[in-house]
Amino acid sequence: MKRQPRGLPSLHLVVPLILSGLAGCIVPAHEAGAPGAAPGKAPTPEVPLLRSVAGARRIGAAVEAQRLREPALAKVLAANFNSLTPENDMKWVNVEPGPGQFSFQRGDALVAFAEQNGMRFRGHTLVWHTQLAPWVAGLPREALHAAMIRHVTNVVEHWKGRVSQWDVVNEAFADGPGGQLRADSPFTALGPTFIEDAFRAAHAADPAAQLFYNDYEIEGLGTAKAEAVYQLAQRLKAAGVPIGGVGFQMHVDPRHWPAAGVIRQNLERFAALGLSVEITEMDVPVGQIPGDHARKLEEQKRLAHDIVAACVAVSGCSGVTFWGFTDRYSWLNDPQWGALRGRGPHRPLPFDADYNPKPMAAGIAAALAGK
Ligand code: XIL
Repeated sequence: MKRQPRGLPSLHLVVPLILSGLAGCIVPAHEAGAPGAAPGKAPTPEVPLLRSVAGARRIGAAVEAQRLREPALAKVLAANFNSLTPENDMKWVNVEPGPGQFSFQRGDALVAFAEQNGMRFRGHTLVWHTQLAPWVAGLPREALHAAMIRHVTNVVEHWKGRVSQWDVVNEAFADGPGGQLRADSPFTALGPTFIEDAFRAAHAADPAAQLFYNDYEIEGLGTAKAEAVYQLAQRLKAAGVPIGGVGFQMHVDPRHWPAAGVIRQNLERFAALGLSVEITEMDVPVGQIPGDHARKLEEQKRLAHDIVAACVAVSGCSGVTFWGFTDRYSWLNDPQWGALRGRGPHRPLPFDADYNPKPMAAGIAAALAGK
């Protein structure tokens, strides 16, 4: 078995309590406030490098370009993942902050890192109501449509041949019972055809890129949003729109979450439309899982295992991407987002805050290996 690279040096796990006057004592990093750090040092499980057991499947992580400057993080990332996704650096506000003013540097750094390390690249995201540049939202209809097409075209062309998969449209549908396009997106004013227009523009800019519709809380069967996205996928396929896949974000909420068998059934029906399906933003927060730290980690492992196994069981499921990979940097460490999943700390990712594999990583590796 290929061994995991070492995470942060063990010195990093402990912080001398110099300031408190208890000279000579040490406290775990979490008590000193390291983000995502776990209580005490859990034994590190022997886990194969995830990409060594992923086969042809994508096993990916979302990161920010600035993190690549940390050698220990970069090493564990490249050793375990065969795919990279920009957590924020390719979103509209960052890539086109002013009309026609494109800024590709941070995205370029991520793409270069992926290429240097033999990783594929999942672009995220072209058309989304959030992290949109402020100038976009106020545009009148025709100008908004033109701005959308120009954005999609320029961004996809810039990374043509290097970004193999794009989330073209993200989160177009509202939560709740109606299955409507969301009222809080400026793109909704363009009518439902904005979705196919965005896909066609992306395809014209890079015909080889695989184009995805991506959303959250569509993982199970029977919710209005899952049904609306299924109908959209059916309609786009029937109309010959160049959609290649549907991304299921899979931000797990352990308080209410579909069973793995239901997730599998749902992935299967989308795949039966002739689409790839992928898990695109998985994390498994433990804050609301009952029990002590060890129990939480075991339940997190089980949930992650069963979801990855559901993907492995569906031949059209081409990959799994995690939303981050180390508990040190998760969007759920930010109280604004963490509150969506109840009380923290959430520690939602397969590697701990010192980049050592957690039981969750072992569960993922086992599922990838078909166990
Ligand atoms: C999140 C990022 O992780 C945060 O850093 C940022 O502040 C907000 O967006 N669905 C998505 C992702 O498609 O782009 C979001 O990423 C998480 C939810």
